[in-house]
Amino acid sequence: MRENICAVILAAGDGKRMHSRRPKALCQVLMEPMIGWVTRFCRRAGVEEICIVTGEGGQLIQEAVGPGVHYACQRERRGTGHALRMAEQFLRGSSAGTVLVLNGDAPFVSDRVIAHLAQTHRQEENAVTVLSAHLEQPRGYGRILREADGALAAIVEEADADEAVRLIQEVNSGAYCIEKSFLLEAFSRFDCRNAQGEYYLTQVVEIARSMGLRAGACLEEDPLAAMGANDRRQLAQLNELARRRVLERLYEAGVDIPCTDGVLVSPTAQVGRDACILPGSVIKGDCVIGEGAVIGPNTWLENSRVGADSTVNSCQVYEAEIGAGCTIGPFTYLRPGTRIGNQVKIGDFVEVKNSTVGDHTSVAHLTYVGDADVGRGCNFGCGVVLVNYDGEKKYRSTIGDDAFIGCNANLISPVTVGDGAYVAAGTTLTQDVPEGALAIGRARQQNKPGWMEKTGKFKGRR
Ligand code: UD1
Ligand code: CA
Repeated sequence: MRENICAVILAAGDGKRMHSRRPKALCQVLMEPMIGWVTRFCRRAGVEEICIVTGEGGQLIQEAVGPGVHYACQRERRGTGHALRMAEQFLRGSSAGTVLVLNGDAPFVSDRVIAHLAQTHRQEENAVTVLSAHLEQPRGYGRILREADGALAAIVEEADADEAVRLIQEVNSGAYCIEKSFLLEAFSRFDCRNAQGEYYLTQVVEIARSMGLRAGACLEEDPLAAMGANDRRQLAQLNELARRRVLERLYEAGVDIPCTDGVLVSPTAQVGRDACILPGSVIKGDCVIGEGAVIGPNTWLENSRVGADSTVNSCQVYEAEIGAGCTIGPFTYLRPGTRIGNQVKIGDFVEVKNSTVGDHTSVAHLTYVGDADVGRGCNFGCGVVLVNYDGEKKYRSTIGDDAFIGCNANLISPVTVGDGAYVAAGTTLTQDVPEGALAIGRARQQNKPGWMEKTGKFKGRR
Protein backbone atom coordinates (compact mmCIF):
# COMPACT_ATOMS: atom_id res chain seq x y z
CA MET A 1 0.00 0.00 0.00
CA ARG A 2 2.84 2.37 0.81
CA GLU A 3 3.99 2.48 -2.79
CA ASN A 4 0.55 3.69 -3.69
CA ILE A 5 0.62 6.78 -1.46
CA CYS A 6 2.26 10.12 -2.07
CA ALA A 7 2.16 13.05 0.31
CA VAL A 8 1.61 16.78 0.09
CA ILE A 9 2.61 18.88 3.08
CA LEU A 10 1.01 22.33 3.30
CA ALA A 11 3.57 24.79 4.56
CA ALA A 12 3.02 28.05 2.72
CA GLY A 13 1.80 29.81 5.84
CA ASP A 14 3.84 32.81 6.89
CA GLY A 15 4.95 33.49 10.42
CA LYS A 16 2.48 36.33 11.00
CA ARG A 17 0.65 34.91 14.00
CA MET A 18 4.01 33.63 15.28
CA HIS A 19 5.45 37.12 14.81
CA SER A 20 8.33 35.42 13.05
CA ARG A 21 10.47 36.57 10.16
CA ARG A 22 10.46 33.05 8.83
CA PRO A 23 7.79 30.66 7.54
CA LYS A 24 5.69 29.21 10.33
CA ALA A 25 6.67 25.60 9.56
CA LEU A 26 10.24 26.46 10.57
CA CYS A 27 9.18 27.21 14.14
CA GLN A 28 10.72 24.55 16.31
CA VAL A 29 9.40 21.90 18.62
CA LEU A 30 12.14 20.32 20.71
CA MET A 31 14.70 22.15 18.61
CA GLU A 32 13.52 20.67 15.32
CA PRO A 33 11.46 22.68 12.81
CA MET A 34 7.86 21.45 12.66
CA ILE A 35 8.31 20.71 8.95
CA GLY A 36 11.17 18.38 9.95
CA TRP A 37 8.86 16.38 12.23
CA VAL A 38 6.23 16.09 9.53
CA THR A 39 8.62 14.91 6.80
CA ARG A 40 10.38 12.51 9.18
CA PHE A 41 7.11 10.80 10.15
CA CYS A 42 6.02 10.74 6.52
CA ARG A 43 9.18 8.91 5.50
CA ARG A 44 8.99 6.58 8.48
CA ALA A 45 5.48 5.66 7.39
CA GLY A 46 7.04 4.56 4.12
CA VAL A 47 5.74 7.45 2.03
CA GLU A 48 8.62 8.36 -0.20
CA GLU A 49 7.13 10.73 -2.76
CA ILE A 50 6.64 13.98 -0.87
CA CYS A 51 5.79 17.46 -2.11
CA ILE A 52 5.99 20.46 0.18
CA VAL A 53 3.94 23.53 -0.71
CA THR A 54 5.84 26.62 0.33
CA GLY A 55 5.16 30.31 0.04
CA GLU A 56 7.41 33.25 0.60
CA GLY A 57 10.61 32.08 2.27
CA GLY A 58 10.34 28.70 0.57
CA GLN A 59 14.09 28.72 0.12
CA LEU A 60 14.51 28.57 3.90
CA ILE A 61 12.24 25.53 4.08
CA GLN A 62 14.21 23.84 1.31
CA GLU A 63 17.42 24.44 3.22
CA ALA A 64 15.92 23.01 6.40
CA VAL A 65 14.41 19.91 4.80
CA GLY A 66 17.18 19.14 2.34
CA PRO A 67 17.02 17.03 -0.79
CA GLY A 68 14.72 14.15 -1.64
CA VAL A 69 11.40 15.98 -1.73
CA HIS A 70 9.49 17.94 -4.36
CA TYR A 71 8.41 21.53 -3.90
CA ALA A 72 5.46 23.53 -5.16
CA CYS A 73 4.97 27.23 -4.63
CA GLN A 74 1.86 29.05 -3.51
CA ARG A 75 2.53 32.68 -4.24
CA GLU A 76 -0.60 34.04 -2.63
CA ARG A 77 -1.99 32.66 0.57
CA ARG A 78 -5.55 31.80 -0.44
CA GLY A 79 -6.34 28.91 1.86
CA THR A 80 -5.54 25.25 2.39
CA GLY A 81 -7.63 24.08 -0.59
CA HIS A 82 -5.78 26.47 -2.88
CA ALA A 83 -2.44 25.41 -1.38
CA LEU A 84 -3.10 21.76 -2.16
CA ARG A 85 -3.99 22.66 -5.73
CA MET A 86 -0.51 24.16 -6.14
CA ALA A 87 0.75 20.57 -5.99
CA GLU A 88 -1.43 19.53 -8.93
CA GLN A 89 1.52 19.08 -11.27
CA PHE A 90 3.29 16.89 -8.72
CA LEU A 91 0.12 14.84 -8.25
CA ARG A 92 -0.33 14.32 -11.98
CA GLY A 93 3.29 13.23 -12.27
CA SER A 94 3.01 10.70 -9.45
CA SER A 95 1.83 7.15 -10.01
CA ALA A 96 0.31 7.02 -6.52
CA GLY A 97 -3.46 6.59 -6.32
CA THR A 98 -3.90 8.02 -2.83
CA VAL A 99 -2.74 11.38 -1.54
CA LEU A 100 -1.80 11.91 2.08
CA VAL A 101 -2.23 15.58 2.98
CA LEU A 102 -0.47 16.90 6.07
CA ASN A 103 -0.22 20.31 7.73
CA GLY A 104 3.27 21.71 8.12
CA ASP A 105 2.29 23.13 11.51
CA ALA A 106 0.98 19.92 13.09
CA PRO A 107 4.10 17.98 14.07
CA PHE A 108 2.63 14.99 15.90
CA VAL A 109 0.98 13.05 13.11
CA SER A 110 3.30 10.11 13.63
CA ASP A 111 4.06 7.18 11.35
CA ARG A 112 1.73 5.07 13.49
CA VAL A 113 -1.06 7.61 13.07
CA ILE A 114 -0.45 7.85 9.32
CA ALA A 115 -0.69 4.05 9.05
CA HIS A 116 -3.95 4.12 11.02
CA LEU A 117 -5.39 6.83 8.76
CA ALA A 118 -4.34 5.06 5.55
CA GLN A 119 -5.73 1.76 6.76
CA THR A 120 -9.11 3.27 7.68
CA HIS A 121 -9.21 5.08 4.35
CA ARG A 122 -8.68 1.81 2.47
CA GLN A 123 -10.99 -0.30 4.59
CA GLU A 124 -13.87 2.14 4.35
CA GLU A 125 -13.23 2.68 0.63
CA ASN A 126 -13.58 6.41 1.09
CA ALA A 127 -12.84 9.10 -1.44
CA VAL A 128 -11.62 11.21 1.45
CA THR A 129 -10.81 10.36 5.05
CA VAL A 130 -9.97 13.03 7.57
CA LEU A 131 -7.99 12.33 10.72
CA SER A 132 -9.79 13.64 13.79
CA ALA A 133 -9.30 13.65 17.55
CA HIS A 134 -11.07 14.83 20.67
CA LEU A 135 -9.62 17.92 22.30
CA GLU A 136 -10.54 19.27 25.73
CA GLN A 137 -10.08 22.74 24.28
CA PRO A 138 -11.08 22.63 20.63
CA ARG A 139 -11.00 26.39 20.12
CA GLY A 140 -9.50 27.44 16.81
CA TYR A 141 -9.81 24.06 15.14
CA GLY A 142 -12.22 22.94 12.47
CA ARG A 143 -15.04 20.87 14.04
CA ILE A 144 -16.13 17.46 12.83
CA LEU A 145 -19.88 17.23 12.18
CA ARG A 146 -21.31 13.74 12.08
CA GLU A 147 -24.67 12.40 10.96
CA ALA A 148 -26.90 10.62 13.45
CA ASP A 149 -25.43 7.30 12.28
CA GLY A 150 -21.88 8.57 12.89
CA ALA A 151 -21.00 9.18 9.24
CA LEU A 152 -18.96 12.30 8.50
CA ALA A 153 -21.21 15.18 7.46
CA ALA A 154 -18.88 18.17 7.22
CA ILE A 155 -15.97 20.05 8.72
CA VAL A 156 -16.83 23.52 9.99
CA GLU A 157 -14.19 26.12 10.79
CA GLU A 158 -14.32 28.01 14.06
CA ALA A 159 -15.00 31.25 12.18
CA ASP A 160 -18.03 29.74 10.44
CA ALA A 161 -19.37 27.84 13.44
CA ASP A 162 -22.42 28.72 15.53
CA GLU A 163 -22.60 28.23 19.30
CA ALA A 164 -23.72 24.61 19.05
CA VAL A 165 -20.97 23.63 16.63
CA ARG A 166 -18.34 25.33 18.78
CA LEU A 167 -19.24 22.95 21.61
CA ILE A 168 -18.13 19.97 19.49
CA GLN A 169 -14.83 18.62 20.74
CA GLU A 170 -13.98 16.38 17.82
CA VAL A 171 -11.62 18.40 15.63
CA ASN A 172 -9.94 18.21 12.25
CA SER A 173 -6.23 17.43 12.57
CA GLY A 174 -5.54 18.76 9.08
CA ALA A 175 -4.36 15.32 7.93
CA TYR A 176 -6.30 13.53 5.20
CA CYS A 177 -6.15 10.64 2.79
CA ILE A 178 -7.74 11.54 -0.52
CA GLU A 179 -8.17 9.47 -3.68
CA LYS A 180 -6.15 11.25 -6.32
CA SER A 181 -8.56 10.79 -9.22
CA PHE A 182 -11.35 12.29 -7.15
CA LEU A 183 -9.16 15.15 -5.92
CA LEU A 184 -8.10 16.16 -9.43
CA GLU A 185 -11.74 16.37 -10.36
CA ALA A 186 -12.69 18.16 -7.15
CA PHE A 187 -10.15 20.97 -7.53
CA SER A 188 -12.40 23.02 -9.79
CA ARG A 189 -15.32 22.73 -7.36
CA PHE A 190 -13.80 24.54 -4.39
CA ASP A 191 -15.10 28.03 -3.66
CA CYS A 192 -14.34 30.64 -1.05
CA ARG A 193 -17.82 31.41 0.23
CA ASN A 194 -16.97 31.37 3.93
CA ALA A 195 -16.13 33.71 6.79
CA GLN A 196 -12.47 33.97 5.81
CA GLY A 197 -12.97 34.18 2.06
CA GLU A 198 -10.44 31.40 1.55
CA TYR A 199 -10.44 28.14 -0.38
CA TYR A 200 -10.83 25.71 2.49
CA LEU A 201 -9.53 22.19 1.96
CA THR A 202 -12.18 21.08 4.43
CA GLN A 203 -14.75 21.66 1.69
CA VAL A 204 -13.46 18.44 0.13
CA VAL A 205 -15.89 16.54 2.38
CA GLU A 206 -18.92 18.35 1.03
CA ILE A 207 -17.63 17.99 -2.55
CA ALA A 208 -17.17 14.22 -2.18
CA ARG A 209 -20.65 13.82 -0.78
CA SER A 210 -22.18 15.95 -3.52
CA MET A 211 -20.50 13.62 -6.04
CA GLY A 212 -22.04 10.62 -4.29
CA LEU A 213 -18.69 9.45 -2.90
CA ARG A 214 -17.83 8.32 0.60
CA ALA A 215 -16.21 10.65 3.12
CA GLY A 216 -15.11 9.42 6.52
CA ALA A 217 -13.41 10.57 9.71
CA CYS A 218 -10.77 8.41 11.32
CA LEU A 219 -10.85 9.14 15.04
CA GLU A 220 -7.41 9.00 16.61
CA GLU A 221 -7.22 8.33 20.34
CA ASP A 222 -4.10 10.38 20.94
CA PRO A 223 -5.17 14.04 21.11
CA LEU A 224 -1.62 15.14 20.38
CA ALA A 225 -2.05 13.97 16.79
CA ALA A 226 -4.50 16.79 16.15
CA MET A 227 -2.55 19.55 17.76
CA GLY A 228 -1.01 22.34 15.74
CA ALA A 229 0.69 25.60 16.55
CA ASN A 230 -0.52 28.90 15.15
CA ASP A 231 1.18 31.19 17.66
CA ARG A 232 4.04 31.16 20.15
CA ARG A 233 1.78 30.19 23.03
CA GLN A 234 0.60 27.07 21.23
CA LEU A 235 4.17 26.38 20.15
CA ALA A 236 5.32 26.46 23.76
CA GLN A 237 2.48 24.12 24.62
CA LEU A 238 3.51 21.66 21.91
CA ASN A 239 7.09 21.85 23.17
CA GLU A 240 6.03 21.01 26.69
CA LEU A 241 3.82 18.13 25.57
CA ALA A 242 6.53 16.73 23.33
CA ARG A 243 9.15 17.16 26.04
CA ARG A 244 7.07 15.16 28.50
CA ARG A 245 6.55 12.40 25.94
CA VAL A 246 10.27 12.08 25.33
CA LEU A 247 11.02 12.04 29.05
CA GLU A 248 8.39 9.32 29.57
CA ARG A 249 10.04 7.24 26.85
CA LEU A 250 13.44 7.68 28.51
CA TYR A 251 12.09 6.62 31.91
CA GLU A 252 10.72 3.51 30.25
CA ALA A 253 14.16 2.85 28.77
CA GLY A 254 15.76 2.97 32.24
CA VAL A 255 17.26 6.44 32.01
CA ASP A 256 17.70 8.37 35.23
CA ILE A 257 16.52 11.97 35.22
CA PRO A 258 16.43 12.95 38.88
CA CYS A 259 15.23 16.48 38.13
CA THR A 260 13.77 17.52 34.80
CA ASP A 261 14.50 21.23 35.19
CA GLY A 262 15.96 22.53 31.96
CA VAL A 263 16.22 19.05 30.49
CA LEU A 264 15.31 19.10 26.80
CA VAL A 265 15.81 15.95 24.77
CA SER A 266 15.11 15.62 21.06
CA PRO A 267 12.66 12.92 19.98
CA THR A 268 15.35 11.15 17.95
CA ALA A 269 17.88 10.83 20.78
CA GLN A 270 18.78 7.31 21.89
CA VAL A 271 19.81 6.96 25.50
CA GLY A 272 21.00 3.73 27.13
CA ARG A 273 19.79 2.38 30.45
CA ASP A 274 21.32 3.68 33.65
CA ALA A 275 22.43 6.78 31.83
CA CYS A 276 21.71 9.91 33.84
CA ILE A 277 20.69 13.31 32.55
CA LEU A 278 21.21 16.13 35.01
CA PRO A 279 19.48 19.55 35.09
CA GLY A 280 20.14 22.15 32.44
CA SER A 281 21.09 19.65 29.76
CA VAL A 282 19.94 19.94 26.16
CA ILE A 283 20.27 16.95 23.88
CA LYS A 284 19.56 18.05 20.34
CA GLY A 285 19.25 16.12 17.09
CA ASP A 286 20.41 12.57 16.58
CA CYS A 287 22.44 11.84 19.68
CA VAL A 288 23.33 8.36 20.89
CA ILE A 289 24.22 8.09 24.58
CA GLY A 290 25.59 4.87 25.99
CA GLU A 291 24.55 2.99 29.11
CA GLY A 292 25.62 4.52 32.38
CA ALA A 293 26.80 7.79 30.84
CA VAL A 294 26.22 10.96 32.84
CA ILE A 295 25.24 14.05 30.88
CA GLY A 296 25.27 17.39 32.66
CA PRO A 297 24.57 19.33 34.62
CA ASN A 298 24.44 22.14 32.07
CA THR A 299 25.56 20.39 28.94
CA TRP A 300 24.63 20.99 25.32
CA LEU A 301 24.97 17.88 23.18
CA GLU A 302 24.11 18.07 19.49
CA ASN A 303 24.23 15.26 16.90
CA SER A 304 26.90 13.51 18.95
CA ARG A 305 27.69 10.13 20.42
CA VAL A 306 28.74 9.45 23.98
CA GLY A 307 30.05 5.99 24.92
CA ALA A 308 29.04 3.95 27.94
CA ASP A 309 29.95 5.24 31.40
CA SER A 310 31.42 8.51 30.17
CA THR A 311 30.66 11.75 31.95
CA VAL A 312 30.09 15.00 30.11
CA ASN A 313 29.80 17.75 32.68
CA SER A 314 29.05 21.36 31.73
CA CYS A 315 30.22 20.96 28.14
CA GLN A 316 29.29 22.07 24.66
CA VAL A 317 29.49 19.19 22.20
CA TYR A 318 28.64 19.45 18.51
CA GLU A 319 28.86 16.61 15.99
CA ALA A 320 31.47 14.82 18.00
CA GLU A 321 32.07 11.26 19.13
CA ILE A 322 33.16 10.41 22.63
CA GLY A 323 34.19 6.86 23.49
CA ALA A 324 33.47 4.83 26.61
CA GLY A 325 34.67 5.61 30.12
CA CYS A 326 35.74 9.16 29.32
CA THR A 327 35.70 12.15 31.61
CA ILE A 328 34.81 15.28 29.66
CA GLY A 329 34.57 18.66 31.34
CA PRO A 330 33.87 20.72 33.18
CA PHE A 331 33.77 23.45 30.53
CA THR A 332 35.00 21.57 27.49
CA TYR A 333 34.09 22.57 23.95
CA LEU A 334 34.05 19.76 21.42
CA ARG A 335 33.47 20.89 17.85
CA PRO A 336 32.48 19.02 14.69
CA GLY A 337 34.74 16.26 13.48
CA THR A 338 36.09 15.41 16.93
CA ARG A 339 36.55 11.73 17.71
CA ILE A 340 37.61 10.89 21.23
CA GLY A 341 38.65 7.31 22.08
CA ASN A 342 37.97 5.35 25.28
CA GLN A 343 39.07 6.26 28.81
CA VAL A 344 40.12 9.72 27.70
CA LYS A 345 40.17 12.77 29.92
CA ILE A 346 39.45 16.15 28.40
CA GLY A 347 39.28 18.81 31.05
CA ASP A 348 38.44 22.42 31.69
CA PHE A 349 38.69 25.05 28.99
CA VAL A 350 39.88 22.61 26.40
CA GLU A 351 38.62 23.01 22.85
CA VAL A 352 38.94 20.18 20.38
CA LYS A 353 38.04 20.57 16.71
CA ASN A 354 38.22 18.16 13.78
CA SER A 355 40.68 15.95 15.62
CA THR A 356 41.06 12.42 16.85
CA VAL A 357 42.27 11.66 20.35
CA GLY A 358 43.41 8.11 21.16
CA ASP A 359 42.48 5.94 24.14
CA HIS A 360 43.81 6.82 27.60
CA THR A 361 45.05 10.23 26.51
CA SER A 362 44.69 13.15 28.90
CA VAL A 363 44.26 16.76 27.87
CA ALA A 364 43.36 18.23 31.18
CA HIS A 365 43.40 22.01 31.03
CA LEU A 366 43.39 25.17 28.92
CA THR A 367 44.31 23.62 25.60
CA TYR A 368 43.37 23.93 21.94
CA VAL A 369 43.56 20.83 19.78
CA GLY A 370 42.56 21.76 16.24
CA ASP A 371 43.08 19.61 13.14
CA ALA A 372 45.25 16.99 14.80
CA ASP A 373 45.52 13.25 15.19
CA VAL A 374 46.60 12.47 18.70
CA GLY A 375 47.65 8.95 19.65
CA ARG A 376 46.93 6.77 22.67
CA GLY A 377 48.27 7.31 26.14
CA CYS A 378 49.45 10.86 25.57
CA ASN A 379 49.60 13.54 28.20
CA PHE A 380 49.09 17.20 27.42
CA GLY A 381 50.17 19.75 29.99
CA CYS A 382 48.29 22.92 30.70
CA GLY A 383 48.01 25.52 27.97
CA VAL A 384 49.06 23.57 24.88
CA VAL A 385 48.08 25.08 21.56
CA LEU A 386 47.97 23.41 18.19
CA VAL A 387 48.68 26.36 15.98
CA ASN A 388 46.72 25.16 12.98
CA TYR A 389 46.06 28.40 11.13
CA ASP A 390 48.58 30.81 9.64
CA GLY A 391 45.99 33.40 8.68
CA GLU A 392 45.45 31.84 5.28
CA LYS A 393 45.39 28.08 5.52
CA LYS A 394 44.72 25.36 8.05
CA TYR A 395 47.28 22.61 8.67
CA ARG A 396 47.07 19.23 10.33
CA SER A 397 49.48 17.70 12.85
CA THR A 398 50.08 14.21 14.13
CA ILE A 399 51.10 13.22 17.64
CA GLY A 400 52.13 9.60 18.20
CA ASP A 401 51.25 7.25 21.05
CA ASP A 402 52.54 7.88 24.57
CA ALA A 403 53.86 11.34 23.72
CA PHE A 404 54.20 13.99 26.41
CA ILE A 405 53.47 17.58 25.49
CA GLY A 406 54.67 19.97 28.18
CA CYS A 407 52.82 22.98 29.48
CA ASN A 408 52.39 25.99 27.25
CA ALA A 409 53.88 24.31 24.20
CA ASN A 410 52.87 25.68 20.81
CA LEU A 411 52.88 23.15 18.01
CA ILE A 412 53.10 25.04 14.74
CA SER A 413 51.22 22.80 12.32
CA PRO A 414 51.96 20.82 10.30
CA VAL A 415 54.32 18.88 12.58
CA THR A 416 54.64 15.26 13.59
CA VAL A 417 55.58 14.21 17.10
CA GLY A 418 56.79 10.60 17.17
CA ASP A 419 55.66 7.87 19.57
CA GLY A 420 56.96 8.33 23.09
CA ALA A 421 58.50 11.72 22.28
CA TYR A 422 58.69 14.47 24.90
CA VAL A 423 58.10 18.13 24.15
CA ALA A 424 59.48 20.34 26.89
CA ALA A 425 57.26 22.94 28.51
CA GLY A 426 57.26 26.30 26.78
CA THR A 427 58.52 24.89 23.49
CA THR A 428 57.43 26.40 20.23
CA LEU A 429 57.61 23.41 18.00
CA THR A 430 58.30 24.07 14.33
CA GLN A 431 59.93 20.80 13.32
CA ASP A 432 58.99 17.14 13.57
CA VAL A 433 60.13 15.27 16.68
CA PRO A 434 61.48 11.74 16.17
CA GLU A 435 60.17 8.81 18.18
CA GLY A 436 61.41 8.84 21.76
CA ALA A 437 63.26 12.18 21.41
CA LEU A 438 63.14 15.24 23.64
CA ALA A 439 62.31 18.47 21.85
CA ILE A 440 63.12 21.65 23.64
CA GLY A 441 62.77 24.91 21.81
CA ARG A 442 62.90 27.89 24.09
CA ALA A 443 65.38 30.66 24.93
CA ARG A 444 67.94 29.52 27.47
CA GLN A 445 67.52 31.24 30.81
CA GLN A 446 70.21 33.64 32.04
CA ASN A 447 70.38 34.92 35.63
CA LYS A 448 72.21 38.24 36.18
CA PRO A 449 73.03 38.46 39.91
CA GLY A 450 72.37 41.79 41.65
CA TRP A 451 70.89 43.33 38.51
CA MET A 452 67.83 44.77 40.22
CA GLU A 453 69.86 46.33 43.02
CA LYS A 454 71.83 48.27 40.40
CA THR A 455 68.58 49.77 39.11
CA GLY A 456 67.94 51.09 42.60
CA LYS A 457 64.43 49.71 42.60
CA PHE A 458 65.17 46.78 44.85
CA LYS A 459 67.10 47.19 48.05
CA GLY A 460 67.60 43.58 48.88
CA ARG A 461 67.29 42.13 52.33
CA ARG A 462 69.28 43.88 55.03
C1 UD1 B 1 -6.63 24.17 9.51
C2 UD1 B 1 -7.96 23.55 9.12
C3 UD1 B 1 -8.72 23.20 10.39
C4 UD1 B 1 -7.89 22.26 11.24
C5 UD1 B 1 -6.52 22.83 11.52
C6 UD1 B 1 -5.64 21.80 12.17
C7 UD1 B 1 -8.69 24.53 7.00
C8 UD1 B 1 -9.55 25.54 6.38
N1 UD1 B 1 -8.71 24.50 8.34
O1 UD1 B 1 -6.89 25.36 10.21
O2 UD1 B 1 -9.95 22.59 10.06
O3 UD1 B 1 -8.55 22.00 12.47
O4 UD1 B 1 -5.87 23.24 10.29
O5 UD1 B 1 -4.42 22.35 12.58
O6 UD1 B 1 -8.04 23.78 6.31
N2 UD1 B 1 -1.42 26.83 4.41
C9 UD1 B 1 -0.91 27.03 3.16
N3 UD1 B 1 -1.48 27.95 2.35
C10 UD1 B 1 -2.56 28.66 2.70
C11 UD1 B 1 -3.09 28.46 4.00
C12 UD1 B 1 -2.51 27.53 4.82
O7 UD1 B 1 0.08 26.39 2.79
O8 UD1 B 1 -3.02 29.48 1.90
C13 UD1 B 1 -0.78 25.83 5.30
C14 UD1 B 1 -0.21 26.44 6.56
O9 UD1 B 1 1.16 26.75 6.38
C15 UD1 B 1 -0.40 25.33 7.58
C16 UD1 B 1 -1.59 24.56 7.07
O10 UD1 B 1 -1.76 24.90 5.72
O11 UD1 B 1 0.71 24.49 7.61
C17 UD1 B 1 -2.86 24.91 7.84
O12 UD1 B 1 -3.12 26.28 7.70
P1 UD1 B 1 -3.57 27.20 8.91
O13 UD1 B 1 -3.79 28.57 8.40
O14 UD1 B 1 -2.68 27.03 10.06
O15 UD1 B 1 -5.00 26.55 9.20
P2 UD1 B 1 -5.77 26.49 10.58
O16 UD1 B 1 -6.50 27.74 10.78
O17 UD1 B 1 -4.91 26.01 11.65
CA1 CA C 1 -2.76 25.73 11.87
